[in-house]
Amino acid sequence: MSVCNTTGLSLEQQERWPYLYRHLIEDIEVPDLSSIELTHIETLDNELSDLIKKIGDAKATSRESLTKHLKGLLFRRFGKNAVVEAFGSTVTNLSIGTGDLDLCLSFKGKQPAKVLKKLSGLLHEEGMENIQSIPKARIPIVKFKDPRSGLDVDISLDNRLAIHNSEMLKSYAQEGRLQRLVQMVKYWASRRGINNAFEGTLSSYAWTLLSIQHAQLVQPPLAPNRQKGAKSNQVSIKGVTYDIGFNNERYPTENNQSLASLLISFFERFATRWDWENMVVSIRNGEALTTKAKKWQHTGPLPLEVVTGADDGRMEHVMPIEDPFNHEHDLSRVVRAEGAMSIQNEFMRIIELLSEGTTWKEICEPVMELEEEPNDLFHDLRSTPANEIAQRLEELRANLEVVETQIRELVEERQNSNELLDLLRGGMREARNVRSDRQQILSELRPLSMKVQEMREVRDGINQRIAIPTNRIKQEMMRIFEKLTAEVDIFNAPNLGVERGDFAYFFELQAMYEASLKSNEAHQEFIRLRREQNQEYRALKKTKKREEDVLTRLVESNPALEGIHPNPKSVKEFQKNAKLLQRSINEQYSTKHELRREIGRLEAWQRISKRKQRDSDGNRHRTQRNQRSRRPRAPEVNINEVRQKASSGDSISLNELDALLSKGGIASIGSSDRQKQQQKQRQSKKRSSRKIDIRQGRTRGRKESRK
Ligand code: CTP
Ligand code: MG
Repeated sequence: MSVCNTTGLSLEQQERWPYLYRHLIEDIEVPDLSSIELTHIETLDNELSDLIKKIGDAKATSRESLTKHLKGLLFRRFGKNAVVEAFGSTVTNLSIGTGDLDLCLSFKGKQPAKVLKKLSGLLHEEGMENIQSIPKARIPIVKFKDPRSGLDVDISLDNRLAIHNSEMLKSYAQEGRLQRLVQMVKYWASRRGINNAFEGTLSSYAWTLLSIQHAQLVQPPLAPNRQKGAKSNQVSIKGVTYDIGFNNERYPTENNQSLASLLISFFERFATRWDWENMVVSIRNGEALTTKAKKWQHTGPLPLEVVTGADDGRMEHVMPIEDPFNHEHDLSRVVRAEGAMSIQNEFMRIIELLSEGTTWKEICEPVMELEEEPNDLFHDLRSTPANEIAQRLEELRANLEVVETQIRELVEERQNSNELLDLLRGGMREARNVRSDRQQILSELRPLSMKVQEMREVRDGINQRIAIPTNRIKQEMMRIFEKLTAEVDIFNAPNLGVERGDFAYFFELQAMYEASLKSNEAHQEFIRLRREQNQEYRALKKTKKREEDVLTRLVESNPALEGIHPNPKSVKEFQKNAKLLQRSINEQYSTKHELRREIGRLEAWQRISKRKQRDSDGNRHRTQRNQRSRRPRAPEVNINEVRQKASSGDSISLNELDALLSKGGIASIGSSDRQKQQQKQRQSKKRSSRKIDIRQGRTRGRKESRK
């Protein structure tokens, strides 16, 4: 791989960004657009006018009906607290037909949990494609494609500020030339692949702000600063206050430059004169702010250093563009190094091509294969024999049945799995309660057992010393007491030694008696504590039984739970399983929708072919009977009338649809505009000449023609 010594760009990168590369290695002057010839500007202007007429908003009707459909869907899923509002080019009048549909979903009350997840599930069921959910973004969003209309849709959550800034953009778009300038800049950026924030380039919104800034800066200005001196209108969104006030009055501009010159000066400004290092695009200021004042100085490496691997740091404020309401938001935050290189390359390319007088069509040559509408919906079926189509249909219908059965089974399984999960969680809760009861009992049992032990020791300690029962001690004490207190028989008086012995014995007995009483007390306490302890043990046993009961009941309520313990591990396994099931369901839904679409297409073709067959049979019969048949002739299809009907939204028959599709399809409607116009002109000429005849009489007409 050959790497450029000067820039560090690989061969592949040099080919990817050729215009920029040339400017980086060769010391070539950036062409001066101010010397473009006037005739060329006029030609460009005419080309732009034609294009604008053509692009219009071809998908306006699809957008409207899809918005309606999605609104209904979201209300049914989230209830009437859900608020669905459109914003972006659908409401700003800045659409170029190919843009996405931007919807904001918010809630009057509390936002339900896991909205994006539920939304994705719903969209899968609806057969939407390429569903991507980005829950952790600054504004959580779900992106998807509606396969019927081919529209890309963004549903963002609670994107209030976007609704307000769309209102202001709409206000700026009141000025027709600014509206068209934005459309042309967006058209160029979209066809050259540099208007996708998710892919690291600038959003359409950012390109719109650049166009407005340009309109504010041209002399005389084409657009005012709608926020300057406007009545303040403070709103609080997620705890942050924004001033969304702006003037909505029509601006009487003195600027009379053509769209082409405005477009040329736009590119001249931002591709060659704008000092991206030191200037911030700011429409709320009406002119650039300095990066220094804004504290948005470019930090980190240059895009070139990142793409060549010379530096892997993080770039900041690479093309600073301030959001008009959220002043802390730099719209170039999403621009990645490769995106910045592509933007610079496109800037260099357009400057070169404009200076060479290249057509706008060539300038906007798409970088990627665009998804063109198929010319003919039935192109592959025209040469397929009818029986083959019938067989294909049969197979598709059989497949559809299989898929529908699978979906039913999977949904049932998901329901069962969810039920089991609920039961398991309930079981876990109950088991947790039982366990905490047991914990409580155990915590009470511990000191009780210690007390029992203590009492046992007191009692046994005394009993070891005094082996005689308390009663016996008492009797002996009484006997000695009586002996010591009896009247003295002077003839038989005890001697002093014996009496002393008796007294000592008595005191001994007294001490023994006291100890024995203590031992009895300890014993009683021991018995009481033991009883208490036994009760606690019984309760403990019961909790064990209760836990077993929880499990038994769980299994009884659903035998599928046999052997499964209500613990977090089991719950996790169930959750994982539920996710896998959901994924399979989503896949099957997509297949189902695809099959349905294909079946619909084949059935429509069969109807068209049958009708055709009937008509041609009828014709043949009539010819055979020398046109004796009185059956009315099938009306000939006039393709121009059909095109007119289709473009004005009138209903057309299947026969007409087929004729339309086989003659270039929907795409041919626009191209036949000129033919239609010519036809109209011819018709109106005819009519007007007839009118002259009627109004002025044949004679005069003849006379005049004779003159
Ligand atoms: N928006 C925003 N902040 C951004 C990007 C977009 O507030 N960083 C809002 C703006 O209200 C903008 C809307 O989202 O009008 C739609 O953005 P985008 O699709 O980029 O612009 P559109 O004009 O709708 O362009 P397109 O026609 O290409 O869809
Ligand atoms: Mg949009």
